[in-house]
Amino acid sequence: MKYETFPNLTLPKIGFGTWKIGGESFPNPKMDSVSLSALRSALELGYTHIDTAENYANGHSEELIGQVVREMRVQRESLFITSKVEPEHLKYEQVLKACQACLRRLQMDYIDLYLIHWPSVGMKLEDTFRALNKLVKDGKVKHLGVSNFDVKLLKQSQALSETPIITNQVPYSISNRSYVKNGVLEYCQQNNILLTAYSPVDQGRFRLNPTLESIAKARSATSYQIAIAWLVMQPRVITIPMSFNPSHIKENLEAADILLSDEEMKQLS
Ligand SMILES: NC(=O)c1ccc[n+]([C@@H]2O[C@H](COP(=O)([O-])OP(=O)(O)OC[C@H]3O[C@@H](n4cnc5c(N)ncnc54)[C@H](OP(=O)(O)O)[C@@H]3O)[C@@H](O)[C@H]2O)c1
Repeated sequence: MKYETFPNLTLPKIGFGTWKIGGESFPNPKMDSVSLSALRSALELGYTHIDTAENYANGHSEELIGQVVREMRVQRESLFITSKVEPEHLKYEQVLKACQACLRRLQMDYIDLYLIHWPSVGMKLEDTFRALNKLVKDGKVKHLGVSNFDVKLLKQSQALSETPIITNQVPYSISNRSYVKNGVLEYCQQNNILLTAYSPVDQGRFRLNPTLESIAKARSATSYQIAIAWLVMQPRVITIPMSFNPSHIKENLEAADILLSDEEMKQLS
């Protein structure tokens, strides 16, 4: 595994995403069994960073994560749990309430990283960060971050947060470079902020291309692994692929061990 380090924090380059765990916008009991198996596989294989959100299956994803952690008796301190407050809950009282509900669903005492999921029209970031700063002071949240923020909003967040903004979680993959084009990747790298790449394999709609395929063949890896390895070879970039399939869950984690050459990185970039 490769890691990103800060003075008070070490994070693995690859974590486990949970969009669709337990359902999509609403809980889907038919998905519980396959969702619990995927979470068990991820923890057994050694994933320690789990990414979720209050609106994944309307909170049910968080409930299932909590259930598996308790059932497998995983030490809380060995995990790094990220969750997110949704754009409809960005007022001071709403943020405090949303975090409390998240902790109740996880049945945990703290969240390692709490993100603003999306900016919303008319949000008052001062108000939101007043609540987020309180959550950190109260020990309910260890670190703060944002998601889907452009450079301007990221700078505002840094100015309002009493602790460093450790990540901006945005879409980034071989085929989606929008947050490179808008300057977010470069800003993050220059300012010690992690760029957490979501949808790293384009939500399964990943398109193969000859460069990927030839590098994958030469390295006896899959194209998915090369696409993930390309992300995590980049400084200050981490990623959180999601899968229900145990062999995909394993191969995605192992992608962190692939060391691409400068030439291969250039070809893929
Ligand atoms: N902050 C945000 O706004 C935001 C938005 C979207 C996502 N996210 C987070 O980012 C995580 C990852 O993004 P995502 O779930 O959108 O998309 P993703 O990880 O790019 O793709 C997931 C899909 O790819 C397939 N897949 C994964 N690994 C594979 C492999 N090695 N070989 C073949 N197929 C593979 C999975 O199918 P199988 O189950 O068949 O393997 C699944 O359908 C989410 O789960 C969520 O935690 C955050």
